[in-house]
Amino acid sequence: MGELDDFRIYGETSVGWCAATAPNETTDEEGRPYVPELATKQVDPRAPKARVYDDPEVVALRERLRAKNGITGLEIVEPHEVERAARIFYRDGFVVVRGLLSPERLERWREASARVLKMILEIKGEGGRKYITETGRLPHRYSYGTASASRELLHDPVWASMVDLPTTTPILSRIFGTEDYHVRGAGGDLCLPGAIEYQALHSDIKETFEITKARIEAARRVGVDVRYRPGTEELTFQTQQLIMERTPPHVTINFLMSDFTWENGPIRQIPGTSAMVASPPSPSDEPEWMRLSTLVGAKAGDGVIRDNRAWHGATPNLSREVRAMPNVEYYGPWVEGERYYWKSMPHTIWETLTPHGQKICKRVTAEPGVWPAGAGVMHPIASKRKEAKAAAAE
Ligand SMILES: [Fe+2]
Repeated sequence: MGELDDFRIYGETSVGWCAATAPNETTDEEGRPYVPELATKQVDPRAPKARVYDDPEVVALRERLRAKNGITGLEIVEPHEVERAARIFYRDGFVVVRGLLSPERLERWREASARVLKMILEIKGEGGRKYITETGRLPHRYSYGTASASRELLHDPVWASMVDLPTTTPILSRIFGTEDYHVRGAGGDLCLPGAIEYQALHSDIKETFEITKARIEAARRVGVDVRYRPGTEELTFQTQQLIMERTPPHVTINFLMSDFTWENGPIRQIPGTSAMVASPPSPSDEPEWMRLSTLVGAKAGDGVIRDNRAWHGATPNLSREVRAMPNVEYYGPWVEGERYYWKSMPHTIWETLTPHGQKICKRVTAEPGVWPAGAGVMHPIASKRKEAKAAAAE
């Protein structure tokens, strides 16, 4: 029996831990394996030298994580605590919310997450490797979004059904100050057991520091007291800063398919970094406390609502369990421009959504009868995804 028969996305599995995949090895656009230079900041200089469960360096790292991993006093709010959720989100750049998924929704998404991951893992790697590493990513880590040839999973009925939930919509509406925000896409990420490397701290997007009229209005709606310098039409520095802090352009909800433990690659978030101008420290410079600043304690069915500007990164999964975290991504009401939205949701899927879901998905929905190019093809290699997308467009 192969390891993918009866594969589940949670609980113990024999998937992962490929000793033939060198630490920090990735693949180029054509799928050729290579280890990037340290200067690229894509590698973890402290990673154990072998991807083996009982390797002494892995065991030592595991013991350190067992003793220290996780933010002390991590706050976890209930879905009805909308005000508290917003306050923590603005302050820290993320908030963990308990039980965003009902048991039925969690079950559906677990099945779907396993189904889509199998499509990626079924493609064999070369030279004895169990899998192909995704282009430009660390080994044993995949993105449900970028591994899809359409770059999203909004064509999947399960992902699409999660854009508007009774638990998430009130919090999103509070954070954005309106119900007129937009879905940007859906995907998420995962790491297999044996993802021994830390991913570098990063922001998913850079703040533009543009303050448009629409953004000022958005700030007013969430309670920012907009002030001008006396005798001018210039915003005070304090107001400019508050607008940056309270109007996140891009907000993602990551949904947990399994509990975050000290051992299975809980994500790390650095509180208070969502409106930082400075860049996060490189992997060589990152202090120990940041590597341990993880969301241990969040459980399956919970969600992490995060400002995509906040510094974050993936951490080692030294367990025997996959850590999967599908997501839905949103844009603030004031984010305008064709370059921000691409149509990855088929119209037939859009028709199945709630009225609010339909409203917020308008900008990412294809015309009736048009299947989004590449939707349905999953591949770890960038050039293969490009081929699939081009063939679909012909
Ligand atoms: Fe990220």
